[in-house]
Amino acid sequence: MDWLVAPMTVQLLGAVLVIGALLHLATVLLRARSDAAMARRYHDQRLQQLDLELATAAVRHRSAVRAVDAGWSGTRKFRIERKVPESDSVTSFYLIPHDGKALPPFKPGQFLTFQLKLPDRAKPLVRCYSLSDSPSETGHYRISVKRLDPPPKAPDAPPGLSSNFLHREVSEGEILDVKAPAGDFFLDLEERRPVVLIGGGVGITPVFSMLKAACAAGYDQEIWFFSGARFGADQIYQDDLKALEAAHDNLRVCLCYSEPTEGDVLGETYHHHGWVGVDLFKQMLPSNNYVFYICGPPPMMAAVTQDLADWGVPKADIRMEAFGPASIKKTESKPASDVPAVTVEFAHSGKTVNWSGAETLLELAEDNDVVIDSGCRAGNCGTCVTAVRSGEVDYASPPSAEPEAGSCLPCIARPTSNLVLDA
Ligand SMILES: Cc1cc2nc3c(=O)[nH]c(=O)nc-3n(C[C@H](O)[C@H](O)[C@H](O)COP(=O)(O)OP(=O)(O)OC[C@H]3O[C@@H](n4cnc5c(N)ncnc54)[C@H](O)[C@@H]3O)c2cc1C
Ligand code: FES
Repeated sequence: MDWLVAPMTVQLLGAVLVIGALLHLATVLLRARSDAAMARRYHDQRLQQLDLELATAAVRHRSAVRAVDAGWSGTRKFRIERKVPESDSVTSFYLIPHDGKALPPFKPGQFLTFQLKLPDRAKPLVRCYSLSDSPSETGHYRISVKRLDPPPKAPDAPPGLSSNFLHREVSEGEILDVKAPAGDFFLDLEERRPVVLIGGGVGITPVFSMLKAACAAGYDQEIWFFSGARFGADQIYQDDLKALEAAHDNLRVCLCYSEPTEGDVLGETYHHHGWVGVDLFKQMLPSNNYVFYICGPPPMMAAVTQDLADWGVPKADIRMEAFGPASIKKTESKPASDVPAVTVEFAHSGKTVNWSGAETLLELAEDNDVVIDSGCRAGNCGTCVTAVRSGEVDYASPPSAEPEAGSCLPCIARPTSNLVLDA
C-alpha cells in the first residue's frame, strides 16, 4: 500500500500548497487593493488641500498685488501731524508717513483702512475712513471722523469704539497703522461729464475730496455740490466750499439744512430748508443728464438712488458708497421658509454648519467661532475676502469692490448652494 500512500500524500501536499499560494495571492491582492484605495483617498484629500491652499494663495496674492498697485502692501505707519476740529462732532486728522517717504497718489473718493490698537482689545480694530482732502495735496493724507454717540434708540449702548478712540485718545504725534488707499467709488476726471456730488452728514468726506480734486485739476464741466446737515453748526468745510464756489464759475454749491437754527439764514448761510433729494434736483438742475456721486446715511442713499432711477437716470450714472454698519448687528432673522437648506463648510476650522438664515456669512462664521477678519462689514474694504472652494454666493447689496473670481466678501454674502469656504 506504500506505493498508494506516497502519491496521495504528494497530491494532497500539492493541493495544500496551491490553496495556500492562492490564499496568499488573494490576501496580497486584497491588501494591494485596499492600499491603493487608501493611497487614492489620501491623494484626493491632498489634492483638495493643495487646491484650497492654491485658491487662498491666489486670493492673497491678488489682494497684495492690488495693494502694491495702490501704494503699499499690508500696513504702513503714519504719524498724526495735526488734529483739526471741523465741528462739535467731526475732527480732521492730517497724516504723514512715519518713514518720511513719498505718499502714493490716490483717487478722489477712496478711503484708508486703519488697524487701531485699542487698550483692552487683543486684536486691532479695523475701520475705514474716506480721504477727505484732494490728491493734489501731496504732503499729507487727511481723514475727517465723526464721533459717534450711542443711537437715541439705544442710549445705554457703548459709544462708537473707533471714532471715540480717535477723538479722545489719539493725540498729535501718535502713530497709526494704515492700509493703502482703496475703493472703487471715485471721480474719474478723464470722463469729462457734468457731475452732481451729494454728501449727507459725514458722508460729505469722499465727495468733498472729489470736488477739491476736480477744482484743482481745472475740471471744465458743470459741477453741482449738494450737502445735507441738520443745521449750520453741523455743516463741515463751509469756508472751503464758499471759497471754491467763488473761484470756479462751473461750480454751484447747495447747503441743505433739515433743522436750521436761528443763526442759519436761508439764502445767506444756506440754500435749502429740507432734505437733499430728487425733488430739489428737479428744481435746480437743467436736466438729469449728469453722473451722480452719492454718499450718506442709508435712508438718504436708498431714497435718492431709487428716485434718481425713477427720474430716468441710467444705473451706470448713479454711483454711491455706504459707510456701512461697522459693528451693529441686525437682529431680525428670516422666516424659516425663506432660508435655503444648504450647508456651509469652514474648511480651515473644520466646521460644517447648516445655513441658519444669518444676515451674512460673516455673521454665521462669528456665531460659530470661526474667525474672519473684517473692517467695514459693508463690502467696501476687502478685509474679509475669503476663497470659495466650492459653491455659490450672492450679495445682499452689490459690493463696491467686486471680489476676484474664486473668492467672496463674507460680510455681505449669503450662500445660494452648499458652500465650502477657506476659513
Ligand atoms: C468706505 C468707508 C468710508 C468711511 N468714511 C468715513 C468718514 O470719512 N468719516 C467717518 O466719520 N466715518 C466714515 N466711515 C465709517 C467708519 O468706518 C466707522 O464705521 C464709524 O466711525 C463708526 O465706527 P465706531 O467704531 O466709532 O463705531 P462702532 O463701535 O462701530 O459703533 C457704531 C454705532 O453703533 C452704536 N452701538 C454700538 N454697540 C451697539 C449696540 N449693542 N446696540 C446699539 N447700538 C450700538 C455706537 O454707539 C455707535 O453709534 C466710513 C466707512 C466706510 C466703510
Ligand atoms: S469687511 Fe470690508 S469688505 Fe468685508
